[in-house]
Amino acid sequence: MPNLPTSSVRSWLAGLPPLHFGNIPLPSRYLLSPLAGYTNLPFRRIVRGLGGVGLGTTDLVNARGLLDGGPRTLQLVETCPEDRPFAVQIFGHDPIVMRDAAQLLQARGVDSIDINMGCPVNRITKVGAGASLMCQVDSTIELVRTVVESVTLPVTVKMRLGWDSQQLTAPKFAREFEQVGVAAVAIHGRTREQGFSGTVDRTGIRKVVEAVERIPIIGNGDIRTIADGERMFAETGCHAISIGRGALANPWLFRQFVEWETTGEIESSGSFDDRLELLRRQFGYVIEQRGIERGISSFRKMAHWYLKAMLVPAALRNQLQSAKTCAEFEATLVDITANGPARGSRTGILPDLYIPVPAGPNENW
Ligand SMILES: Cc1cc2nc3c(=O)[nH]c(=O)nc-3n(C[C@H](O)[C@H](O)[C@H](O)COP(=O)(O)O)c2cc1C
Repeated sequence: MPNLPTSSVRSWLAGLPPLHFGNIPLPSRYLLSPLAGYTNLPFRRIVRGLGGVGLGTTDLVNARGLLDGGPRTLQLVETCPEDRPFAVQIFGHDPIVMRDAAQLLQARGVDSIDINMGCPVNRITKVGAGASLMCQVDSTIELVRTVVESVTLPVTVKMRLGWDSQQLTAPKFAREFEQVGVAAVAIHGRTREQGFSGTVDRTGIRKVVEAVERIPIIGNGDIRTIADGERMFAETGCHAISIGRGALANPWLFRQFVEWETTGEIESSGSFDDRLELLRRQFGYVIEQRGIERGISSFRKMAHWYLKAMLVPAALRNQLQSAKTCAEFEATLVDITANGPARGSRTGILPDLYIPVPAGPNENW
């Protein structure tokens, strides 16, 4: 596909076949990218409720931990009827462990399995998993082949452009993965060395699109607005996009993309009041899943982004962060409601929120 002007992207998308992973049809080409600590079932229920999500994916899940069956790991793969189609992302380096984990997931009824080859964090790469799989061509292809052949479900891979700028191996891997039966490949347009710094290299993603014959390539990285997505399609020719931080900042983004693709219109994102309602709903789902004590502590980092987006003043944000009981949490929400946003109205359009990645080098995450 030639580089498209962004104004032609919608008509180009209209001519594409609907998106499939293997024989599973996906309801849209806008997928939720895994974000460890955030893309849990309560958050997935929120974005599903708003609409437009083509596929939800779990946080990365340790394949070994799945086989051990620890309660925290099993909680990561919990799902519910509205959370479909749904993929579990596994990480590991041992093909047998990855195979057994994939079979366990198939028996639990998941729709698709994603192999993590992009995680830059030292804790993961030093055991030969995540992005370090991109350093070993033959054994990684064998690992992926083993997983693909062990299940009837579609298996996908999420990777980076390569380990560093000297080793941009993603096109080669994508071609090989297609040959061994992978159903789709998601590409975060940075190298492992980059971590999350710099900007996404869409030319690099395009090379991956050009390297495969049939399977969909999913473009990923820095998509926060419709214009960002449009640019990703135009400059890479990818057939789908996945959105991580943009979904935390704006959970309406999937629905907005579908609306834009089908009508050219872009609905506005939710107001202060709409976000407050989502925050309450998500908190309810978290308590349902984890109980009160763990629910309150684990919801803090998500609440932080809700309140930032709602322009809640720092004093009230801190008050919510220190709430230890449901009564304290609720009392703070009453104060937040009464106070409204620091600027603008409770029902008006809020400014776009930019969510940075965790600060510091990969080693510290
Ligand atoms: C806090 C955080 C956690 C992440 N966790 C995962 C993960 O579990 N698995 C994975 O493949 N990528 C993970 N990523 C990478 C994202 O899926 C995505 O590739 C990256 O953030 C770029 O996309 P974005 O700009 O839309 O967020 C994580 C990123 C962040 C910021």
